[in-house]
Amino acid sequence: MRRLRRTEALRNLVRETRLTPGQLIYPLFICPGEGVRKEISSMPGVFNVSVDEAVKEAEEAARLGLGGLLLFGLPESKDEEGTGAWDDEGIVQTALRALKANAASKKLVLIADVCLCEYTSHGHCGIVTKTEEGFEVENDSSVELLGRAAASLARAGADIVAPSDMMDGRVAEIRHALDEDGLEQTPILSYAAKFASAFYGPFREAADSAPQFGDRKTYQMDGANVREALREIELDLGEGADMILMKPAMPYLDVVRAARDRFDVPMGAYQVSGEYSMLKAAFARGWLEPERAMIESLVGMRRAGADFIVTYFAKEAGKVL
Ligand code: PBG
Repeated sequence: MRRLRRTEALRNLVRETRLTPGQLIYPLFICPGEGVRKEISSMPGVFNVSVDEAVKEAEEAARLGLGGLLLFGLPESKDEEGTGAWDDEGIVQTALRALKANAASKKLVLIADVCLCEYTSHGHCGIVTKTEEGFEVENDSSVELLGRAAASLARAGADIVAPSDMMDGRVAEIRHALDEDGLEQTPILSYAAKFASAFYGPFREAADSAPQFGDRKTYQMDGANVREALREIELDLGEGADMILMKPAMPYLDVVRAARDRFDVPMGAYQVSGEYSMLKAAFARGWLEPERAMIESLVGMRRAGADFIVTYFAKEAGKVL
């Protein structure tokens, strides 16, 4: 076996899995203001950026040959229903128009995350009603609002809409809302299998979207389940999803592999905030070699079957690659 491992040229020739910058999607957190670049304390090297700074990020991403951007928004104000999510003058809608007006965006796929949690005062991904036992995150009323949000984001210029809320039936509703608006060319990237994960912790600081009470376990999946993940994917595809996203990535690579073996649609893996933060923390202490560990973590996701990867390392990895 060692004959083919002797030189870098030989290793390169027989390498089974390739990683290219075009397979990487870079998440951006858009905030109000101008000239704002505020570092997220639990995610060194990741920033909340205002729209003008987001345009600069897009230019850099395009220069590096990255595949695209995934946009999240931090609205000026929040309310019970998350009205900011479908406001045509909302923060992500505004960013999308600015990005579309810039030539760099032609080289990038602009993906808009569709969810209510960044826009609701309570931080849940849907409408909350009080019940005797506590509270309930309503399904169908939330789904309707998600349809509105997706249509608004697509009108503003999103090339793809990506629902991350985990309400049932939202893909069908979003497809319907898009088609009704004449947006039948906009694809849906569904976060089909999204687990209730501790690894989203730093994101909730970045997007200011931590639930004010309770948790997300009644809508996001139980981390122990792989068969259920396959059912989620099957349902989303049946409702009209064009591509799927698996999340988190590293603790769920078996789920990525199972999905790859079963479904022939384009699939991404999301290396989430906590995965990034723990690697960064180890780098900062000199416990891991940054470049090698970063690339190894991404190659593992590709090897498990992901076609593309959403990662906060996208720019750093793009430079290395
Ligand atoms: C919104 C959303 C979340 C993430 C992506 N979209 C947060 C959550 O579900 O709590 C997590 C991304 C990350 O941790 O990097 N629903």
